[in-house]
Amino acid sequence: MLQAYVVESNVYDFAISIASQFHYLVNVFTVVAGAFWIAKDIRNRLRRQFFTINLQGKAMGAQKRILVTGGAGFLGAFLCERMVTEGHDVICLDNFFTSQKSNIVDLLEQPNFEFVRHDITHPIWLEVDEIYNLACPAAPGHYQFNPIKTLKTSVLGAINALGIAKRCHAKILQASTSEVYGDPEVHPQPESYRGSVNPVGPRACYDEGKRAAETLFMEYNRMNNVNVRIVRIFNTYGPRMHPYDGRVVSNFIGQAIRGEDITVFGDGNQTRSFCYRDDLVEGMVRMMNGPDDFIGPVNLGNAGEFTVLELAELVIEMTGSNSKIVHKALPADDPLRRQPDATLAEEKLGWKPIVSLREGLEKTIAWFQQIDWANYRPPTPNF
Ligand SMILES: NC(=O)c1ccc[n+]([C@@H]2O[C@H](COP(=O)([O-])OP(=O)(O)OC[C@H]3O[C@@H](n4cnc5c(N)ncnc54)[C@H](O)[C@@H]3O)[C@@H](O)[C@H]2O)c1
Repeated sequence: MLQAYVVESNVYDFAISIASQFHYLVNVFTVVAGAFWIAKDIRNRLRRQFFTINLQGKAMGAQKRILVTGGAGFLGAFLCERMVTEGHDVICLDNFFTSQKSNIVDLLEQPNFEFVRHDITHPIWLEVDEIYNLACPAAPGHYQFNPIKTLKTSVLGAINALGIAKRCHAKILQASTSEVYGDPEVHPQPESYRGSVNPVGPRACYDEGKRAAETLFMEYNRMNNVNVRIVRIFNTYGPRMHPYDGRVVSNFIGQAIRGEDITVFGDGNQTRSFCYRDDLVEGMVRMMNGPDDFIGPVNLGNAGEFTVLELAELVIEMTGSNSKIVHKALPADDPLRRQPDATLAEEKLGWKPIVSLREGLEKTIAWFQQIDWANYRPPTPNF
């Protein structure tokens, strides 16, 4: 009897000891699993807050939803490419008026890039954190093709883009232009210069449209606290300019490559400043990411001043072309001098163009030499 009791009590003690060890193990497991879960949660929260993994697997800055209107154009496509590479979620909106799908074809495969074929003169409902408003034909021949449409694109386009910014509390940057200074009497042009624009001339649809857009940006900021930015872009060139866009750099390079006469309007002593695409886009991005109390307008351009004749001679030399320079009548209201005073951009954004005209032309000419011109259609008959 006593023996049976001893055996029973040993079994009982043994069971108790197993149970208490199991309990101990469960406690340890719970603590370890809990700690692991908390660490994972903290990591995910930090990751959502501060990092995103881009397509190439690099950790990047905070991911944003970015809308680029006119995103298939010369500057827009390069900007989209940069934003996609930085890991942002990019919506490119365009109606392909002065561009074409080939500009963004490589981006279409990327999961953080979306294309919306839309005309910005009509309202659209999108959810974004930042907007770069670039939609507008930029070359005189094309913006003069349908001047009323150009005005609508600048004015209604700005209203529609600002409407999205207001509703989403998004930051919005306007791609304005040195053309707001018209044919300037002040040289070089600082942002404080109010310009000399002919409101009834053939360039007014663009110049006045862009001026009205600046006004809209300032009023949405004053009335509705929309977080705006305005950059005034001076003549910019680079690879992937539309070969038929009709601007001076693409015209001269195209004519030189084909061995045709190089057409200089007037005596060619009118001056221009030429900014390389990558420098310009860097300035735009710095402005967007800059302090909220600096909304512009700010000039973005290369202060180096060249006569149109000098540009023609440089292009002939660099392409090794036999082209001859011929002169044609200067178009109405063509500005005689254009040069940015870019000190404000340097002071506020630490921005300064770094690519020289020769270096930029080298890359641009190389791009024009390898494209198949048959793959491009002129946007309008005016190029
Ligand atoms: N490149 C320059 O030298 C320069 C100088 C000053 C200002 N800017 C401004 O920068 C912006 C981009 O210029 P760019 O050189 O890339 O010109 P671009 O013509 O190559 O690009 C403009 C883009 O806007 C699109 N677009 C035009 N109308 C539209 C509409 N109604 N709806 C939707 N999309 C429309 C075009 O299809 C094109 O893709 C423009 O707003 C231009 O005024 C450019």
